[in-house]
Amino acid sequence: MSPHDFKRRLVSGETLVAIGAHNGLSARLGEEAGFECLWASGLEISASRGMPDANIITFSEMADAVRNIVESVSIPVIVDADSGYGNAINVIRTVQELEHAGAAGLCLEDNVFPKRNSFYADVTRDIVDAREHVSKIKAAVYARKSEDFVVIARTEGFIVGLGVDEVLERAHAYADAGADAVLVHSKIDNPSEIYAFSARWDREVPLVAVPTTYNSVTVEELRAHGYTMCIFANHGIRSFVSRAREILRQLRESGSASTVEPQLCTLGDLFGLVGFADLKRREVEFLG
Ligand code: SPV
Ligand code: MG
Repeated sequence: MSPHDFKRRLVSGETLVAIGAHNGLSARLGEEAGFECLWASGLEISASRGMPDANIITFSEMADAVRNIVESVSIPVIVDADSGYGNAINVIRTVQELEHAGAAGLCLEDNVFPKRNSFYADVTRDIVDAREHVSKIKAAVYARKSEDFVVIARTEGFIVGLGVDEVLERAHAYADAGADAVLVHSKIDNPSEIYAFSARWDREVPLVAVPTTYNSVTVEELRAHGYTMCIFANHGIRSFVSRAREILRQLRESGSASTVEPQLCTLGDLFGLVGFADLKRREVEFLG
């Protein structure tokens, strides 16, 4: 899907489902599974470097991961750009770099810098004044070269305990600033907050949901409640961790690779995923 098609499908309210990715291999798996787009997740990319999701990794590390993801797939990549790595002026460079890296768009959240993952519990939280976030959304729209580069505004209002009135007020301001979509985040275990929000959403701007904690919902239910884009933000890396942990434990205990072999992808499968067929063709063509 070209960036143009992605933008068209997003703004026209087609259902789009994204899967989190943190590197080329996880991106390939997401594409292979049939997701329409990828979410270059701050949590996943930080975790893949063994770091917490709290703006500990730098923007250049993030951009490097994004380049690797983009070059590995042909589906659009939306970058989780946290709070933009500074103020509205910093956002300009963030957008330029990510657009140049081939991303189809980015998401900017109204967290303070340094951000901390929305599910990081038992900490006091602040978000920035809505006017500050509006300035970042305007800067992002100004900085993009192509209108097809999607700017998603995310509000962490519910995450810091605001009520639906205040969250709506923020979302209105972000939509009016030119955001192509609004992501309403929530950390409770049911969709009541995000559904209370969407019941009162009165703009053309599409809504995006991230059903991590309220995970019993389906894409169809979200759609019925006005959320046309759904991001499964961290399910890729969590599936790797849970399977790898179990298999490595078994291997260590048994001392024989035969005990885990049936649970592993074959080497041929792995070779196929990462382009050994192309390597073979190139060797024949260029090395004779
Ligand atoms: C991420 O994937 O980094 C996100 C989504 O921002 S979440 O971690 O669910 O807040
Ligand atoms: Mg994030």
